[in-house]
Formats: sequence, C-alpha cells, structure tokens
Amino acid sequence: MKNILITGGLGFIGSNTCIYLLEKNFKIFIIDSFLNSSEDILKKIKYLNLQLNNTNKNNLIFFEGDIRDKDTLRNVFKYALKVDAPIDIVIHLAGLKSVSESERNKMLYWDINYKGSKNLIEIMEENNCFSLIFSSSATIYGVNNTILCEDSIIKPINNYGKTKLAVEKLLEEKYISNPKLWNIINLRYFNPIGGHSSGLLGEDSYKNPNNLFPVLCMVANNDRKYLEIYGQDWETPDRTPIRDYIHIEDIAKGHLCAINYLSQRLSGFISINLGTGKGTSVLELIKIFEKVNNKKIDFIFSQRRNGDVAKYVTS
Ligand code: UFG
Repeated sequence: MKNILITGGLGFIGSNTCIYLLEKNFKIFIIDSFLNSSEDILKKIKYLNLQLNNTNKNNLIFFEGDIRDKDTLRNVFKYALKVDAPIDIVIHLAGLKSVSESERNKMLYWDINYKGSKNLIEIMEENNCFSLIFSSSATIYGVNNTILCEDSIIKPINNYGKTKLAVEKLLEEKYISNPKLWNIINLRYFNPIGGHSSGLLGEDSYKNPNNLFPVLCMVANNDRKYLEIYGQDWETPDRTPIRDYIHIEDIAKGHLCAINYLSQRLSGFISINLGTGKGTSVLELIKIFEKVNNKKIDFIFSQRRNGDVAKYVTS
C-alpha cells in the first residue's frame, strides 16, 4: 500500500503528515482547496521533499480542489490510475476544525465536514478504494470528566463534534453494509501542537486563529497584546480547562502506524484515540511556554467559550 491520497494535505496535520510519509517513500496525492492553507505551504513541502534522500521525485502530486466537488475528486482517482499509481489508502483530513466557528456557522460545518466526507466515500467506492483513515476528534466525547478511552460515552456538545460523529456513523454504516470490503480507522485526535523540526511547517496563524497554541505564539511575537483565557470557573484544580496536547510529529507518526495497521488486515472498522495520556491546563501550558521560551505571556480572563468542556485526556 504505497499510494496515498491526503485530503486537506496542506493543513497543519496534513502538511506534517505528508512530509513524514514522503520520508518513508510513499507516493502522495494531495487535494486541498486553500481554504485554510496557502501555496506557500505547498512550496515548503516541495522544498523539504527535495532535501530527502529520495530517488523518486515524482512522489508528490497536488490538486487544487474542494471535496464538496465530486468531479474534482473523480479526477484525482482517474489521474492516479493514469500514472499507474492507483490510490491504495485515503487519509481524509479536509474539514473545518474550530469549535467556536462551528457554533456560529453551523451549516458550513455540515456542508464541508459531512457532505464533503460523503462525497469522498462515494468516489472511493466508484474507484474500488476501500481503505480509509478518517480524522475524527476527541470533541465527540463531549462533557466527560473521566479519562477517555474509545468506548467512553460519546455525546458531542458542539457542532464541530457533531459533524465528526456523523461521519464516524456514516463510515460505520458503510462498513456494516459490507464488512468484507471496507477497511476503516477513525483517528480521534486530541490537541495537536508544535511544528516540523525544520521550523517550516507549523500551525499557520495568518488567518486569525482560535486555537490556544497559535494564539500563544502570536502573543509571544507581539502580534497580539494578550491571551484571553476563556473562563476561570472550570471544575479543574486551577480552574482552567485541561487538554491532552500531542506533538504534531507524533500525530504524523500515528498515521504511519494506521497505514501499517490497515495494510495488515483485509477489512475492519476501528476507532483509536491519538493523544499522550497527559493533561495540561491552560495556566500550566502558559507557564511551560514562558519557561521554555524565556518570554512573559500576558493574559486576561474572559467568559467561557461556547462549546468548550473542562477536560479532554485520553487513557
Ligand atoms: N483557549 C483559551 N484562549 C484561546 C484559545 C483557547 O483559553 O485564545 C482554551 C480553550 O477554552 C480550551 C483550550 O484553550 O480550553 C484549548 O482550546 P483549543 O481551541 O486550542 O482546542 P479545543 O480543545 O477547543 O479543540 C481542539 C481542536 C479540535 C480538536 C480538539 C480535540 O480545535 O479540532 O482540540 O480535543 F478536536
């Protein structure tokens, strides 16, 4: 299984996963709409790819397109066949991921995250491709103060989590309808942070980020005056929310593990948490960041953000 299609391959997780898989000699097809990415990221992946000791320099093929457009998806599969590299596995990362935006703009999230995924699954079927790694999220567990394992109660409280859960359900139905055919892993990411060791691929903050880590970096760079901590009244020891922050290069490696797992079996359906098992509160993260970077981070407390929960940590 050597030919991989990565939807949303220029995003934070996508770009880091692409370069990791290129290092491991996979042939990568990327489809990305530039909605939350840029040509610059593509250039950086190409640049890093050239630095690799890889003899096959035709190992990266890019298509600009939106997963809501079936014809674009069809063309990618068609092209892969034409160049004698039929797609073996799809890593489906394309989607929107901001909890707060998903509350403000609900239909957009259903359109891109759900409808886009449904399109992709249909085009995969048309092309006899049945192996899929889906980017799901810890958000689907909802309010749950226990340590989360894959069979913990699932009850998303924000729209983003609801769209991810709906796709998981759709995939489960697909699998049940033909258990000998589909080979599916839902990777439930916890909170990815950090960047590629080259310093070139991180979580881009040029489009008004909502996530904690890029905002923290902006404050450190004096691009924002202070960090707003959403809520000071959470049911946690220091009253700020706890998350399971996982380095982006470990997330990238997680995808290779998932590919190897899919390659070892003919079919199946499984969900796997991708985190570290260690929880860190917002205040703790600020302290660590200040110590490592020798930089003071100014912050204020504000209201809780819609759709947030106190704690997400995997077992
Ligand atoms: N936070 C702040 N101030 C900010 C940004 C965030 O206090 O400016 C807090 C949030 O309230 C939350 C924590 O920092 O308690 C982490 O927030 P993020 O926005 O970085 O991450 P979330 O946990 O809300 O969601 C993220 C991703 C989702 C993913 C989820 C999995 O956005 O895609 O982690 O746990 F699904």
